[in-house]
Amino acid sequence: MKKTLALVTLTSSILFGASAAELTQKHCASCHMLTTPKPEMIPELKAPAMDAVMFHIGLDMQDKKTMKDFIVDYVQNPDASKSVCESNKVQNFGVMPSLKGTVSVKELEAIADYVMATFPSKTFVSMITEIQRNDKVNGLLNSPFLINREELPHLTKLLVMNWDKKSLGLSEDQKNKLLVVRNETLKAVGDIKEKVTALEDEIIELSVDDEPLETIAVKVDALAKLKAEATKIQLKCLKESLKILNDKQMELLLPFWDA
Ligand code: HEC
Repeated sequence: MKKTLALVTLTSSILFGASAAELTQKHCASCHMLTTPKPEMIPELKAPAMDAVMFHIGLDMQDKKTMKDFIVDYVQNPDASKSVCESNKVQNFGVMPSLKGTVSVKELEAIADYVMATFPSKTFVSMITEIQRNDKVNGLLNSPFLINREELPHLTKLLVMNWDKKSLGLSEDQKNKLLVVRNETLKAVGDIKEKVTALEDEIIELSVDDEPLETIAVKVDALAKLKAEATKIQLKCLKESLKILNDKQMELLLPFWDA
């Protein structure tokens, strides 16, 4: 496969004078970093690095033709609903401006072949895998919930990541209703989370100070109660969201979930 791609790239560079790498540099590099970003650079970027763009495309699409068609189309007609990146990230960056007229379709095809053959780099893939693993562990460590299993998902989080996607197809009415549920949930869980952290600190301190077990046990019971409270809020959020979403949307968000 790599060989064919290299050949295509070669052909296009003969046809157009400028090599596909040069075209990519000229038309894409002002926004998309073409080298692998360091983790601390990621929040500063004005567009996802090309490594990240191709990483997400690779997660979403199986075959090369679909990928190429997507890239060629997206650069000319960018739209949040088509984006394969998480909706909240796209909202942060702002939707890409269309390059229609600035770069020809032929040039774009050469660019698409080039970026598909070049990105994501191995370094980026291992970096992003590491970041995702750390996020997961931190999420578990800071969780105010009793149950931390994928089968009981944080639905509001999943929704935010897919908010604008055409495949999910949320209507304005659904979005408004879901936002109400989301805001109530975040507020309630946020309040509890603060108390959970404070109580945990307190329990640790009491243990370190060798306080009597009865004193500590009272705090442990209080902690358990708080976490149960947060879990009930999570279940309520799930129930209310289920009322707003249709079966097809649920299937898309929770492919592993037998509703
Ligand atoms: C003026 C800045 C700018 C330029 C130039 C630019 N992009 Fe983008 N691009 C963005 C931003 C910002 C995003 C993220 C938001 C989005 O997905 O629309 C993005 C997203 C994308 C995505 C979609 C990723 C997703 O969300 O699914 C693709 C594909 C892409 N760019 C390809 C290219 C290619 C190829 C070029 C060069 C021909 C290019 N871009 C040039 C700013 C730019």
